[in-house]
Amino acid sequence: MTFNHKLPDTLNLLRSHTSIRKYKKEQIPIEVLKDILGSAQHAASSNFVQAYSVVLVSDEEKKRKIGELSRNQPQINSAPVLLLFCVDMKRLEIACAQRDTSIQQQTTENFIVGVVDTALFAQNFVIAAESQGYGICFIGGVRNNPEEIGKIVDLPDKTFPLFGMTVGVPDEEQLVKPRLPVEAILHENSYDIEKYEELIPEYDQTMLDYYKHRLTNNKEQDWSDTMSAFLSDKRRLHMKSYLKDKCFDLE
Ligand SMILES: Cc1cc2nc3c(=O)[nH]c(=O)nc-3n(C[C@H](O)[C@H](O)[C@H](O)COP(=O)(O)O)c2cc1C
Repeated sequence: MTFNHKLPDTLNLLRSHTSIRKYKKEQIPIEVLKDILGSAQHAASSNFVQAYSVVLVSDEEKKRKIGELSRNQPQINSAPVLLLFCVDMKRLEIACAQRDTSIQQQTTENFIVGVVDTALFAQNFVIAAESQGYGICFIGGVRNNPEEIGKIVDLPDKTFPLFGMTVGVPDEEQLVKPRLPVEAILHENSYDIEKYEELIPEYDQTMLDYYKHRLTNNKEQDWSDTMSAFLSDKRRLHMKSYLKDKCFDLE
C-alpha cells in the first residue's frame, strides 16, 4: 500500500522524530513510565528470550556520574529520566538453572539475539514515549565507560549496557533530520550498487543544506564528510575485552 497525500497518524509520528537534548524540569510520573515500558515490551522477541533489562537511574548523583562517564553531560543533567538499556542474559541463566540447564550465551548468534531484542524494545519505547509527547535521546556514549557505569548500577556478569536514553518533556525544537531517500535503502530482488553514484551526491546536498540551517550546532558538512570523519577512526576498542569480561567471549 502506498500513501499519496495525507499520511496516517502513526507514520507522521515516526517522521516527526528528532533527538531531544534539552528537557523541561517536569518529572515523568512512574506509572506513566511503567505504562510506556510495558507497551514497549510488546516488541517482537527472538525465540521470546526477552533478553533485556532497563535500569532507571533516578539518583541524581548516579545520573551525574553517568553523564560524565558517558561524555553526554548536558542532556543527561537536563533530563528528568535516564534509562540504561542493557542486554541481559543473566535472568535467562537463572531461569534455565532452575531446569538444571547451563546456557550458551557465548555464541555470536546469541549475542546478536540479545542486542537485537534490546534494540527493538528500546525503539518501541521511543515510539511509545513520543506518542505521549515526550522526547528522547539515545546515549551510545555509555559505551565510552561501560565498566564504571555498570559498577554504579551493580550490573552483574552476562549483562551489559547497550546504550542509555534520556527521556523528558522537550525544551527545544529541532528540525527533522532528512533520511536517505527510500530508493537508496530499497533494493528489489538484487542489490543495486550502481545507483549510489547519483543518490549519495544528491543526499549530500540535502544534508549540506540541513546542517547549514538547523537550529543548533550548524556546520558546513555533508553526509559523506560526516561519515568519513566518523568511520575512519577505530572507536571504543575496549568493548571487546569488556564484553569478554562480562562472559561474552564469543564463539
Ligand atoms: C544507538 C544510538 C546511540 C546514540 N548515541 C548518542 C549519544 O551518545 N549522544 C547523542 O547526543 N546522541 C546520540 N544518538 C542520537 C543520534 O545522533 C541521532 O539519532 C542521529 O543523529 C539522528 O538524529 P535524530 O535522532 O534527531 O533524527 C544515538 C543514537 C542511537 C540510535
